[in-house]
Amino acid sequence: MKISIFGVGYVGLVTGVCFAEMGNTVMCCDIDQKKVDLLKRGQSPIYEPGLSELIESNLYAKRLMFTTEIETTVMSASMIFIAVGTPSDVDGSSDLKYVLSVAKSIGHFINEDKVIIVKSTVPVGTCLKVKEQVLESMKARGVSYQVDVVSNPEFLKEGSAINDCLRPNRVVIGLENKNLKELFLQLYSPFFPKENQAIYFMDLASSELTKYAANAMLATRISFMNEISRLCEQVDANIESVRLGIGSDPRIGSQFLYAGIGYGGSCFPKDVRALLKTAASYDLSFELLQAVELINQKQRHHFTKRILSFFEGDLKGKTFTIWGLAFKPGTDDIREAPSLDVISFLLERGAKIQAFDPEAMIHVQRHFGNKFFDRELHIKYYEDQYEALAGASCLIVVTEWKSFRQPDFERIKKTLDTPVIFDGRNIYDSQQMKEKGFHYFPVGKKITSIKSRLG
Ligand SMILES: NC(=O)c1ccc[n+]([C@@H]2O[C@H](COP(=O)([O-])OP(=O)(O)OC[C@H]3O[C@@H](n4cnc5c(N)ncnc54)[C@H](O)[C@@H]3O)[C@@H](O)[C@H]2O)c1
Repeated sequence: MKISIFGVGYVGLVTGVCFAEMGNTVMCCDIDQKKVDLLKRGQSPIYEPGLSELIESNLYAKRLMFTTEIETTVMSASMIFIAVGTPSDVDGSSDLKYVLSVAKSIGHFINEDKVIIVKSTVPVGTCLKVKEQVLESMKARGVSYQVDVVSNPEFLKEGSAINDCLRPNRVVIGLENKNLKELFLQLYSPFFPKENQAIYFMDLASSELTKYAANAMLATRISFMNEISRLCEQVDANIESVRLGIGSDPRIGSQFLYAGIGYGGSCFPKDVRALLKTAASYDLSFELLQAVELINQKQRHHFTKRILSFFEGDLKGKTFTIWGLAFKPGTDDIREAPSLDVISFLLERGAKIQAFDPEAMIHVQRHFGNKFFDRELHIKYYEDQYEALAGASCLIVVTEWKSFRQPDFERIKKTLDTPVIFDGRNIYDSQQMKEKGFHYFPVGKKITSIKSRLG
């Protein structure tokens, strides 16, 4: 099949590469010239395990092409995917300017009947707006072709995006024109084993809402566990034990039940806000989701407050090591990452930061620029996780990269000024930390105190 895709971000690029891997011919278009130049040379502009290899092999096989030319992209396929960003607008609603601008361009260059597939996460009603926009642009040119708009939300997870895309647990397709069912069965069947073709067809609105409902449910599980973890801290219970105890119930399931420093990333925070906004526009207050968002903010605050109280309210001039900047392991994405809040909190109080992340340092460097408000910016980045510890008052683990899970604790202890670890991801064992002589602050578990040893 011939496919065009607008947007080569985390979703558009992975989708394009995976369609090409299945033998389709895919033209990917982005307005970012730098990204497209890199991709044409076979280099990935983002970090995603396994992505670079697939870009290279599919470019070589001439099944995958990259361009900034809108006209070529519109004309080269009858199936056009929209996978551009839908960031939060100032009021929390989803900003559709990129999606609608692509729709306008499609109408401007359309040369035959087209099927336009919206892969971006968009509020209910957007697919119809896309169709309206294309029809309007066609009318202005005085041309008329059949335009079908389809909703096909994406459920991949950064860090395992290639696997999620090549072996999805389900594909959701929202259709107006039921005659298109066969086309999408043909497109997606190769991604499933014959006995489990989990391709769900539904109406446009249900499909658009499914994506938000999925992310809202996952965010709810995280906030629920974070709230339980706060109670664990009060009653001397262990959130890990509670997680195992409830997660083994098939009605609950074990995934997305981890307490920590709160959810971040490019999807959950903005999608929760957008769903709240959609609900509000129908006079529904969605109290549950409001609480989910509030708990998430509180959880980050709770974590940083603990650091502040351990250092008796005075962080000025102290150095803190941060391990992990990406919003989760396996990606370089820092959108709404907890690390940004932790760093800002510490800098605001006059602290200095020594940071390490295997993939995301360059993005955090760009995010903070050269100054912190009008002050000098005290962040140093290290290529080695242990070198980042030298002379620091404590280690703060914010992202659970694999190389942090079983570190050389003796080296950590020797290199830090004081053996203190704040663990926002619960990756260490409290008893082991005690035995190794660390003052250890996990989430929802007993704190290991060695205050006497610190003098
Ligand atoms: N990142 C995820 O894990 C994920 C998962 C599922 C769904 N989604 C959704 O998918 C959509 C895309 O997310 P993303 O993370 O890939 O975004 P992204 O910001 O990584 O990429 C968006 C890309 O679109 C490009 N773009 C903007 N306007 C364009 C235009 N007119 N023509 C061509 N390209 C244009 C940008 O330059 C950018 O490269 C969003 O709606 C998001 O909510 C994201």
